Amino acid sequence: MNDFEINPSGTNEKDDLDVVTLENDPEFTFEQYVQRLELSQDDLKKKILDVGSAESYFAKYLNENNISKDVFGVDLWNRFIYKKMSVQGRGEDLPFKKESFELVIALCSVPLMYWWKNKNADNVDMKKKIKNNLSEMIRVTKAGGEIKFGPIPLEGRTDKVQYFSDVFREILNEVKEENLNLEVNFFGEEEEKDNPYYKITTMISIKKPQHQPHLG
Ligand SMILES: C[S@@+](CC[C@H](N)C(=O)[O-])C[C@H]1O[C@@H](n2cnc3c(N)ncnc32)[C@H](O)[C@@H]1O
Repeated sequence: MNDFEINPSGTNEKDDLDVVTLENDPEFTFEQYVQRLELSQDDLKKKILDVGSAESYFAKYLNENNISKDVFGVDLWNRFIYKKMSVQGRGEDLPFKKESFELVIALCSVPLMYWWKNKNADNVDMKKKIKNNLSEMIRVTKAGGEIKFGPIPLEGRTDKVQYFSDVFREILNEVKEENLNLEVNFFGEEEEKDNPYYKITTMISIKKPQHQPHLG
């Protein structure tokens, strides 16, 4: 855990609790992560950061089943039952040194959570947080590493969700222009038949290039 630079002034933002439904089952959570983020056996051996980890069931399952001891969680919600492997922090200001992880993942959390938090509020704040979150996930990923997250709505059932979707894609393009050679892929596209907010969602993979060789 010596890559951590813990910000002691973390918050306990209770207003997030109303949007969170959590499974009380580490094995089920682990299976969801593997399936939805399409994690391979090799991925599970990497040094992983789980952003928006809630109770860190993913890290807990891997740790307790001796699959990996190198998985950490970060969540702004100060209610971890697995403090050994997680810290409090924000997806838009990650409390880790640059290039600390080979794989950074976020399932059903940021950046979509910024929409949940801002859907009735100021959208400038949402844009800034999405941008900071993507930049932060890229910063803490090692060269040659990968970031996988989602779901992200591609098509919404309401104007506000569609707005999030459009803003997200605009920011992703900005991030691609600012970080040349990122490889961005959409995967796991799903039609969300019974979801009142999203019509079609996708998962996203961003691969960070290896360091460029020194020229001249
Ligand atoms: C729906 S839960 C998903 C938890 C877990 N990833 C899972 O799939 O079981 C969303 C989590 O994101 C966290 N979260 C929301 N906004 C966040 C932020 N800005 N930074 C870090 N975590 C955040 C919430 O506290 C919550 O624990």
